[in-house]
Parts: sequence; structure tokens; C-alpha cells
Amino acid sequence: MTLFPSSSPVNPPGATDAVGTPVIRRSRPDDFEGVYSLYLDVAAIPGGIARSQDEITPDYVVSFLGRSGAAGLSMVALDGDRIVGEVHAARPVLRAFSHMLTDLTICVRPAYQGRGWGRRLFSEFLRVVREDMPDVRRVELFTRQSNRRAIAFYTSLGFCMEGILRGRIAGVDGDLEDDILMGWVRPPPGDDDDRY
Ligand SMILES: CC(C)(COP(=O)(O)OP(=O)(O)OC[C@H]1O[C@@H](n2cnc3c(N)ncnc32)[C@H](O)[C@@H]1OP(=O)(O)O)[C@@H](O)C(=O)NCCC(=O)NCCS
Repeated sequence: MTLFPSSSPVNPPGATDAVGTPVIRRSRPDDFEGVYSLYLDVAAIPGGIARSQDEITPDYVVSFLGRSGAAGLSMVALDGDRIVGEVHAARPVLRAFSHMLTDLTICVRPAYQGRGWGRRLFSEFLRVVREDMPDVRRVELFTRQSNRRAIAFYTSLGFCMEGILRGRIAGVDGDLEDDILMGWVRPPPGDDDDRY
């Protein structure tokens, strides 16, 4: 079994590997160290991803890179040779759900946040889904209700809020907060809505 079926770069037109210019490509097995370090960095700041720093283990990273590489999609953003962002999602095992990608997580190193890296990375991820994975009809993710910027971010990329899961996730202060289910659904042929 090939865990990473394609390692070819899928950079937007004009992208180079110069320092400061993002290169966005599919993840490769040798990205492990950089992705592990990225997740440790991001999880150090509460209120973003669900895992806390002590829950970012090598097994966790190996597992999501392997799973999304074999049955889904994982992409990294690089500044020079440094991995500064990663996004992944995978197909569920059951055939009835195999038309979608779920368990999506996106992370950008704190020092790089708010500078357009996340938007470029996620836009490229969705472009690959749209163009190279025609059998993927739906992408879904969860985000905590207090992460308003992330909700606005996903909405601007064509995701809709589909559900409120009450008290599903512990907040920074320990109180429970709602988790928001958001989904992107492949538009019907001919729909040229440029959000997609
Ligand atoms: C959410 C995240 C991936 C966005 O990446 P980014 O590089 O910071 O985002 P960009 O600079 O490309 O900005 C895109 C949008 O993200 C939002 N955003 C910006 N900084 C953000 C931050 N620190 N946290 C959350 N959202 C942010 C804004 O709504 C922005 O919209 P705009 O382009 O209209 O200004 C990134 O901030 C991050 O990794 N946050 C911590 C982990 C996390 O929350 N992951 C998502 C869990 S569901």
C-alpha cells in the first residue's frame, strides 16, 4: 500500500521556493518532523485545535499523515524548507460515507497566522479536492463556537454552518462550549459560484 500516492508539488501558478514565498504541496512521509513540530507549536496556544500540547504525540501525527495520505488528502505550506502550515482530512472507512472527507484539521504556526498562509493553504486544498478528487462530494469539519475567526474563515471559503453540537467541547476556562459542524458540498455542474 502506498501511503502517499502523490508527492508531486501542486503549487499555485507563480509559486517558487524562495524564502517568504509559500510553496504548497501534498505531504510526504519525510514531512513528519516538521508537521510534528508545527502541531506542538499550535497546540501551545489554547482555544484553537481541540488537542492540547501533551496530546500531540508522534503516534497521532504518524496516524493522521498515513490515513489522510492513503485515503484522503494532506497538504503542507512551506516557507523555504520550513513547514509552517498543514491541513488534512480523510475518508471514513464505511462505504456509505466514502464520498466525503472528514476529521479535517488545519494549522498555521502562530508566528505566521493572520498573514494569509491559512487562506492560501486551504484554498489550494479545496482546489485539489475540486479538480483531482471528483468523487469527493462533501468536506466537513468541526470548530468551537468561540473560534469566530476560524468560522468566518471557513464561511468565506464556501463552508456553511450545519449544526450546533451543544456542550461538546471543553473551553479554555474548562466550561463546556458548543462545537459547530460546518460542511462544504460540491456544487452541481455548471454552478460557477466563485466561493467554491
Ligand atoms: C485558523 C488558521 C488556520 C487560519 O490561518 P491564518 O494563516 O491565520 O489565516 P489567514 O491569515 O490566511 O486569514 C484567513 C482568515 O482566517 C481568520 N484568521 C486570521 N487569523 C486567525 C487566527 N489567529 N485564528 C483564527 N482565525 C484567524 C480570519 O478570519 C482571516 O480572514 P480574512 O482573510 O478575511 O482576514 C490559523 O489561524 C490557525 O492555525 N489557528 C490555530 C489553530 C486553529 O484554530 N485551527 C482551526 C481549528 S478548527
